[in-house]
Amino acid sequence: MKTIKATINSVIFALLLGTLGLSYLAFQDYQITETMQNQISQSLSVRDLVKELNPAKKDPTAVKKLREFKNDLSDSERRHRVSNMIQAYNGHNRNLYDTRVKEFEKGEQDFFIVAQWTIKKFKNSAHFYAVLAMSFPLLGLFWLFYFFNYGLLNPLQGLSQRMMEFLTDQYTFRFSSPANNEIGNLERTFNALAQKVLNNIDELQSLDRAKSEFVSIASHELRTPLTSIKGSLGLLSSQIVGQIDEPAQEMVLIAEQETDRLVRLINDMLDLAKIESRSLTLEKNWVLLDSLLHKTAQGLHGFASTAQVEIRVENPLGEDCEVLMDSDRIQQVITNLISNAIKFSPPGSHVDLSVNQLLDGPLEISITDQGPGISEENQGLIFEKFRQATGPSNHLVKGTGLGLAISKALIEEHEGLIGVRSQQGLGSTFYFTLPQWRKISHQQQCQNEAA
Ligand SMILES: Nc1ncnc2c1ncn2[C@@H]1O[C@H](COP(=O)(O)OP(=O)(O)OP(=O)(O)O)[C@@H](O)[C@H]1O
Ligand SMILES: [Mg+2]
Repeated sequence: MKTIKATINSVIFALLLGTLGLSYLAFQDYQITETMQNQISQSLSVRDLVKELNPAKKDPTAVKKLREFKNDLSDSERRHRVSNMIQAYNGHNRNLYDTRVKEFEKGEQDFFIVAQWTIKKFKNSAHFYAVLAMSFPLLGLFWLFYFFNYGLLNPLQGLSQRMMEFLTDQYTFRFSSPANNEIGNLERTFNALAQKVLNNIDELQSLDRAKSEFVSIASHELRTPLTSIKGSLGLLSSQIVGQIDEPAQEMVLIAEQETDRLVRLINDMLDLAKIESRSLTLEKNWVLLDSLLHKTAQGLHGFASTAQVEIRVENPLGEDCEVLMDSDRIQQVITNLISNAIKFSPPGSHVDLSVNQLLDGPLEISITDQGPGISEENQGLIFEKFRQATGPSNHLVKGTGLGLAISKALIEEHEGLIGVRSQQGLGSTFYFTLPQWRKISHQQQCQNEAA
């Protein structure tokens, strides 16, 4: 397996070695050129000196220089030296052995010309190696750029894109032919992880289905005997089947209340099971909002007066507004939000049920109380099932923590949003939106009401 690390290391090592070798060759050739140039300029200066030497003047310095040079190095010796260098150069097997060199060796060519020509060759070759040596790092940079882009960054980008898709629940993608390197290893690991997640999801989904099925069967089975218990208790408390004394009446009343609570709880659990198994079906119709709000508030009147709380309805849109909804389900949501508000309101306060049209279109229905409020931390939790923010502060605060979870699911089924705005000590406003609504003419409204 040729890893990316090994590839980069060997390419950089080869480039380094190439650059060093070529630089050495260029350096060697420059050095030879330099030495030869010195030799030749020495010889040329002596020749020019001889040429310029004016025998009439007998320039004493020139004569002296000439003598010195002659003493120092004879012309034939210089020829010999240059000749040696040319030989040595040709000894490098560089195929530059030229006829001029042969002629020179035979004494048919002036050694200055041969030497100049040889220097030129050396210079050219030195330049060639220098340029090559310089182009090696450039070549390396170009390769690295190409390799980083196409061999590393592009596959990494692809991988991160797949991971982002994975986060949005798209588990089916797999890399078809991972390469035999580190990126390929990552892709193989991704494939294995994705498969494992998919298997786990399948397993969890089938467990969840089994659980929802069990809850809905159990709830159904519980509801049937509860209905008869409730009926029997009703008969007892209404004293149709016979007189009962006061303590027994009180006990029957408690039993009736608790049976009601149990029925509510079982209904909530059934709803939740339906929502989770995605078998909840909504029956959506155009419904007059104003009458729905008043009807729901009216239904909670008894509970509100027990808690000494007033429910106020404020609907600036008036009676000519219809909303597409499952009215039973929206009534269930509003009932839960108002009864929560009542549960947490101090006696003598009021709960406001109001309607607003938001700027971007949907209707917002909100329920505001003057209760203790909810901390920011708890605001994020209370919409989960079985979550309760505070312990009971009075006898009215009872519940299982399912109401808001069911409300959230029901509002989402209506393509709306649900949330809470609250500050501790300053009350809470629970709100939800309904996107499909319209204003109707009075005539249409009369027809609807008649229907
Ligand atoms: N208006 C409110 N003021 C303060 N806290 C609230 C308010 N409404 C809800 N909460 C908090 O959110 C929790 C969850 O509410 P939710 O309606 O889901 O459950 P519950 O009312 O306790 O029980 P259930 O509705 O299932 O009978 C409540 O227990 C309470 O702690
Ligand atoms: Mg509730």
